[in-house]
Order: sequence, then structure tokens, then C-alpha cells
Amino acid sequence: MLVSDSLSVNSCGHLTIGGADVVTLAKKYGTPLYIMDEDKIRRTCKEYMSALTKCWGEKFLVQYASKAFCTKYMYKILDEEGFGADVVSGGELYTALKAGFPSNKIVFHGNNKTAEELRFALEAEIREIIVDNAEELELINEIAAELGKVANISFRIKPGVDAHTHDFVKTGQIDSKFGVALENGEAFDFVKSALSYKNIKLCGVHCHIGSQIFDPEPFAHAAELMMEFIAKVKAELDFEVSELNLGGGFGIRYTEEDDPRSVYDAVKSFTDVVRAQAEKYDLSLPFISIEPGRSVVAEAGITVYTVGSVKEIKDIRTYVSVDGGMTDNPRYALYGSKYTMVLPERAEETPTEIVTVAGRNCESGDLLGENIHLPAVKAGDLLAVLSTGAYNYSMASNYNRVPRPPVVMVKNGVDKLVVKRETYEDIISNDLI
Ligand code: LLP
Repeated sequence: MLVSDSLSVNSCGHLTIGGADVVTLAKKYGTPLYIMDEDKIRRTCKEYMSALTKCWGEKFLVQYASKAFCTKYMYKILDEEGFGADVVSGGELYTALKAGFPSNKIVFHGNNKTAEELRFALEAEIREIIVDNAEELELINEIAAELGKVANISFRIKPGVDAHTHDFVKTGQIDSKFGVALENGEAFDFVKSALSYKNIKLCGVHCHIGSQIFDPEPFAHAAELMMEFIAKVKAELDFEVSELNLGGGFGIRYTEEDDPRSVYDAVKSFTDVVRAQAEKYDLSLPFISIEPGRSVVAEAGITVYTVGSVKEIKDIRTYVSVDGGMTDNPRYALYGSKYTMVLPERAEETPTEIVTVAGRNCESGDLLGENIHLPAVKAGDLLAVLSTGAYNYSMASNYNRVPRPPVVMVKNGVDKLVVKRETYEDIISNDLI
């Protein structure tokens, strides 16, 4: 099963992405290679825009979580599709601005933004800074005063919701380094103090409960709690929070076991709750923002490798080693993430073997997957890992001084290089002596 509607098999039996032959692209650009289906990214953006328009009207902004996949070209797509963006570092902000992305559609996240980054964000007049902690609030007020500005902010709140996902990507519970807690009154005190700062304008509250979540219930529950909080703030501080940011986290399909809901269903599950809570507490309908990252790009991308060796360790396992690995996709090493793999030259052949796919880095844990079902595979074959559009290129490293692969976008079946392959010269470019 090919897990994404971007993928198909052509008459030569080759894997295609966005209508382009993966084998041809691998020959043209070399491997390892990231390929993204631009039409799929745009289709998903449109699904978000239309779901929110249908379920909520006009008062919303979808702020793509840049960390999932951040390149200048991606911001061009987002801008054309009417999206905003969330950034988590000066580097992401810089990339967005260099791509000509409108600064008034950018929000800035992070649990330890530096003074330099905050100044950069305030000078660029971004839409909002999502404040994580008391020290940061004070620092923003100080820098904004120096610059003669008023900073628009939201607060990151931990609503105390269990997101039913991997521990490393859960963020809404009280034991999290992100944000301030609802349960113990910390969030309330925080809002109260923000209202007293001269160079701060409190606009909204934010929560993000985790990532790769399929169940609608935790999103709905988080929305319910956040609206209760907005009601409490209104009742006790006579201040109506006008914006509710519900974060990202919508799950995607990596393997056939994954069963994500449609974008529409995901959106409807929380907009219904927000509306009902607004009625219950007599609140105006808030401006809603969300921050999907993975679900916008993951299924639009694949990574293509070349197999270098097949090592059978009798009665134990067979290692299939490829020319990339944890340097371009650290997700198996980090989270044990499962992927679907295909041989692009023989995409319809029935799997006959169960193998371990290993990377080329000097590290035993450098695996891309275990118990992978493939047809008989040999050195020189291409191997594609599917659904790698999110958190692969963006998490890639130069460990072992391995150059990062290029990114090719396919639009209407036509390929375009949007990020070039790193060279050895790029790798030593910061070495001074
Ligand atoms: N908003 C905030 C505040 C976030 O922290 C995140 C993700 C998102 C939005 C986007 O979540 P998404 O829609 O992509 O699930 N490296 C991990 C994922 C880390 C997610 C961190 N925050 C992985 O490869 O699975």
C-alpha cells in the first residue's frame, strides 16, 4: 500500500510521485534525494482553508508549523495558499522573511527565545509572539519599550490533556517544558500580570497538546478547557481574550495501520466545541488559529536511496544498507517511527523478505526501519521511504560530515530543484583554520 494519494505506479512498474517517475528523478538528481509533491501540499492547504471557512467563517488563520519542513520555496507556496506560519527560531523567521513571506502572518514560538531573536521578531513586526514563561514576558516588555513598540502576544498554556501519542511529542500535560499550566492557576496569574505591562498587548491564548494524534477527543477536550479559561479571565479580570490558538498535531499516514481523519473532521471536532462553549459562557466567537505542520507536508514527500549492500546474518536478520540514514531521517533512531518502504523500480512486486534497513552512518542505531517487507533486494536497487515530507529535511544533520540531500518539488508532473545538494565545500565553509 502506497499510503499517500501522491503516489502511484506507472506502466513500467515504477513508483511515481505527483505523476513523475521516481526512477527517472533518482537518475537525474542522484540519491539520497527528497522528492515532494507540490500539488499535494497545495491540496492539503486548500483542505484546511475550506474546512475552516465552512466550520468557522472568516475569523481564522492557519499558521503552518515551519519546523516540519522549512525552505524558502515552502513559504512561497504557503503565501499563495493564504496560510500564515509559526516559526520557532531566528533561523526560521529569517528564512520566511527572505522568501518574502508577510511578517504580519508570522507567530513566534519557543520555550527559550533569546533576546536577540525577540528583538528581531519585534523589529520585523510579526503578528504575535507566543510567550512561554514569566522571564520572557518581562524581556519582551523591556525590548518593546526600548524599540518604542507594543508587542502583540499570546500565552502558551498547558491545558492538562493527554494526547495519546509518543511521550517525546506530547506537550499538553503539566510535566512539560512548554508553557504555563492551567490546573494550578499559573496561567491565570500570568494573564493577570501581562495586563499590567505597558508594552505588551495580550491578544490570545495558545495550546498545543502533541503531535501525530488521530483521536479527535483530546483536541475537543483542549478546546473546551481553553474556552473555560477564557470565560474565567473575562469573569474575574473583565478582559476578553480575542484569539484562541489550538496548535497542531493532526496525525498522518506512515503505514497502513495509521488511520487519520479527514482535515474537515479534525477541524469540525474543535470548532463545534468552541462555538458551544462561547454560547454557554456568553463569549464572543474568538479568532481561531491552528498550526498544522506534519499534516501539511508529510504525505507529500518521499526519500529515495540507493542500496549499497545486503548483509544476511544467518538466523538473525538481513541488513539492507542505503546511502543515507539518520543524517537525513533521524526519526526511527529517535522515536522508533514506522515507515512504509518500496522499491521504486519494481513498485508492484510482492514483498518476499523481511529486512532491517540501515543507514550509512557510524552508529548501530542508525536504522530507518526493522521488519520491513520488501521484494528480493540487491546492491544497486533504489529504495524509497514514504511519507517523509515532515521532520526529515528539517531534522537532517551533517553527522559524519555527510552532506544533506537536495529537495525536488514536482508540480503538474514537472520537477524543479528547490534545495541543492550540499557539497563538501558547504560542509567546511564555517571552519576557519
Ligand atoms: N505548534 C506547536 C507549538 C508545536 O510545538 C508543534 C510541533 C506544532 C505546532 C506542529 O505539530 P504537527 O502538526 O507537526 O504535529 N520532531 C517530531 C515532531 C515534533 C513536534 C514538535 N512540535 C517528529 O518527527 O515526530
